[in-house]
Amino acid sequence: MIRTTVSASREYEVITGAGLINECGKIMRDVAKDAIKLLIVSETNVAPLYLDKVKASAKAEGFEVYEYVFEAGEVSKNINTVAGMWAVMAKAGFTRTDLVAALGGGVTGDMAGFAAASFLRGIAVVQIPTSLLAMVDAAVGGKTGIDLPEGKNQVGAFWQPSAVIEDTDCLLTLSDEKFIEGMGEVLKYAFIMDVPLYEYLHENASRGVAIREDAWLMEKIVGMCVADKADVVAGDELDNGRRQTLNYGHTVGHVIERDSEFTKLHGVCVAKGMGIMIDACEAAGTLASDEAQKMRELITSYGLPVEDDITPEAAVAGAMNDKKKRGNTLSVILVNKIGTSEIRKMSADEFRSFLEEGKKIR
Ligand code: GLY
Repeated sequence: MIRTTVSASREYEVITGAGLINECGKIMRDVAKDAIKLLIVSETNVAPLYLDKVKASAKAEGFEVYEYVFEAGEVSKNINTVAGMWAVMAKAGFTRTDLVAALGGGVTGDMAGFAAASFLRGIAVVQIPTSLLAMVDAAVGGKTGIDLPEGKNQVGAFWQPSAVIEDTDCLLTLSDEKFIEGMGEVLKYAFIMDVPLYEYLHENASRGVAIREDAWLMEKIVGMCVADKADVVAGDELDNGRRQTLNYGHTVGHVIERDSEFTKLHGVCVAKGMGIMIDACEAAGTLASDEAQKMRELITSYGLPVEDDITPEAAVAGAMNDKKKRGNTLSVILVNKIGTSEIRKMSADEFRSFLEEGKKIR
């Protein structure tokens, strides 16, 4: 088991290890000593697998348990679903000392986190991520929110959890597709800040998706990503500086994801976005060709793509519409050497020609 402390506006632990879901009640009790009521938020794919276990573990610790299960998918990530959670808590008479638990992937964590951040102006939430993507990214760092018809995650709040409980056994029930998309975010940490993680992934590349059957390795890899995220969040909780490096591959990736109307998975789009940035940095001469090739090979060895047919024109237009834009410039994240990253401000025109040059090397 790995315990990682996140030192942000609230200090909390991320606990990572096999079988932890059976102990979640005790962990929740440790961080919510006075809580009487607990709302477990989950969705229709995850609830049949884990809801009963979480309920049993919570009841054993004396929690009065309520549940809210919504239809799985990004399409549910809206104010109506959050209003459903508020209604359950209001009717049951939740108070400021009660607790919310988010059991599921990124959509669940973001929405349950937002419901907790806003109900009674803020009650505690514990994140129990079940997808790789949520374990290494979404559940850690306190970003919560919902989508609007106008864009993804447009309304939300920073609301740090009281604990994050990551049972790596949950990775075994993911489809290959969902596991692979999580690897997109894992690879991101290796490229932007973590050479030892890159080396682990490189050493195990021939195993591809089969690495998830190696419990020791998965705990290690997830733990390394969590430590990276904790380090970034501790230094820039509100996303005004270094935290933006976590958006490597996302500037173009988000546009690809939105253009597909969310039929393409987030982590897959991030991998494509990273591939496009690798091409552009190589073409600009800031990333050595052998380094670029190593990065592409690592991405593809874990079953992810490095290309997309999006045009530079469309990528720039979409990026200028994204909430990541500040004023009239884009903060573009570059990796010019594995393990380091840079935030470069670019105008729309600069970003377009940067991407156009990258396209020519294909
Ligand atoms: N998912 C990026 C962040 O938490 O900042």
